[in-house]
Amino acid sequence: MKAGGLSWWIRCFVCFQEPPRKNSAANPQTEMVPVVYLVTQSIHCSNVPRNVNLEKLRSGYLFPEISRHETEHLQKNPDARLIRLGIGDTTQPIPDTITQAMAEHVRGLSTIQGYRGYGAEQGNMELRKAIAGKFYQDMGIKANEIFVSDGAQCDISRLQLLLGPNVTVAVQDPSFPAYIDSSVIVGQAGELEEKTGKYRNIIYMNCGPENNFFPDVSTIPRTDVIFFCSPNNPTGHAASREQLKQLVEFAKANGLIIVYDSAYATYIRDGSPRSIFEIPGAQEVAIEVSSFSKFAGFTGVRLGWTVVPEDLRYSNGFPVIKDFNRIVCTCFNGASNIAQAGGLACLSTDGYQALRNVIDYYMENAKILVDGFESLGLKVYGGKNAPYMWVHFPGLSSWNVFSEILKKTNIVTVPGRGFGPAGEEYIRISAFGPRQQILEASRRLKFYL
Ligand SMILES: Cc1ncc(COP(=O)(O)O)c(C=O)c1O
Repeated sequence: MKAGGLSWWIRCFVCFQEPPRKNSAANPQTEMVPVVYLVTQSIHCSNVPRNVNLEKLRSGYLFPEISRHETEHLQKNPDARLIRLGIGDTTQPIPDTITQAMAEHVRGLSTIQGYRGYGAEQGNMELRKAIAGKFYQDMGIKANEIFVSDGAQCDISRLQLLLGPNVTVAVQDPSFPAYIDSSVIVGQAGELEEKTGKYRNIIYMNCGPENNFFPDVSTIPRTDVIFFCSPNNPTGHAASREQLKQLVEFAKANGLIIVYDSAYATYIRDGSPRSIFEIPGAQEVAIEVSSFSKFAGFTGVRLGWTVVPEDLRYSNGFPVIKDFNRIVCTCFNGASNIAQAGGLACLSTDGYQALRNVIDYYMENAKILVDGFESLGLKVYGGKNAPYMWVHFPGLSSWNVFSEILKKTNIVTVPGRGFGPAGEEYIRISAFGPRQQILEASRRLKFYL
């Protein structure tokens, strides 16, 4: 057996010291001089090479980078009253009727009658039926095509495991970073091109105001898979029925699979489709991932689902659902039964109504922020069918705008560049804050910008 090896590291320290003296007489005026120390250090290394795909990943994920800026700002301005409109985390309490259902389930676990161990890997059938009934009524989606999970982000990675390294993918630009990062990790992407900020082998479909946030499908090179998110994070744009029809037709004509992310579907208010399966024929070309996170404030509780229709098949005719079932059984042992009890309560009449009230609250926040930015003469997208606003600062770098807003108003946003090259000149604002903070943010923006 081969043993691990020792690697030598050189560390460099700079200290300020008095210069060496020729005679021993002390001289209080002596200036300190920098002295460089080089220290060699050995650390044990295994013989395991680093995964080359992880080596390709751009260092630093967007949100930790923003936290770093936030910390630096607070160190310089310890009295700053920060308002965080950056990371899209929910802030309002989960309605009582839902937490009570979870609490009852927890109490039951301490009794002989109520104790439950492992459940079905695919999720509790009652919850799968409730999801089918609430979100896919009249779309022909059956409960057995719904796989309950611990969240959409985990399902995106499980889908990547299903697809493997040999498929080609396209993403919206800008887009939620998990699609690209998971593509790189699984081995679908080439090297990052520093100049363009794009990974080789990934097709970036520009989605901005100039094309109504929808790519011209006649010009997109064919890929095996398209990741598509609606309402979109970060732009807040909900794709219209006409746009989604085009997408489904394109997928059918080119024999590709759409991975459709509907994590924000319950925020849609204008009649745009809430699911890709509202489009006829989508069951032969699409998988849908979705989540209780933003719908029910479950970002910490963790619950989501993925729909894989029985009609979706690989080029050799094999049903995709069978492979996804295998992945779920191998890589996941089912969502927490406590979270699933909460999920069922979310879909009860009372639970669902209570959640709609919370969503209305966030959307009122969005309206306040849209009005605030528009009153400054800025062009604001989103905020009507999604809890995100996409604000345009023509000609400016998004990281500079982010820093300027933080410095002048103590408001944390997200630089659009973090969502892809097409996010330059934009910042993303989240409407998930408490109302008082939203009002204060709007006041500060008007006053300081
Ligand atoms: C578009 C989109 N998909 C998926 C997720 C992840 O959702 P979950 O909390 O269910 O993992 C997020 C989270 O912000 C998101 O914005």
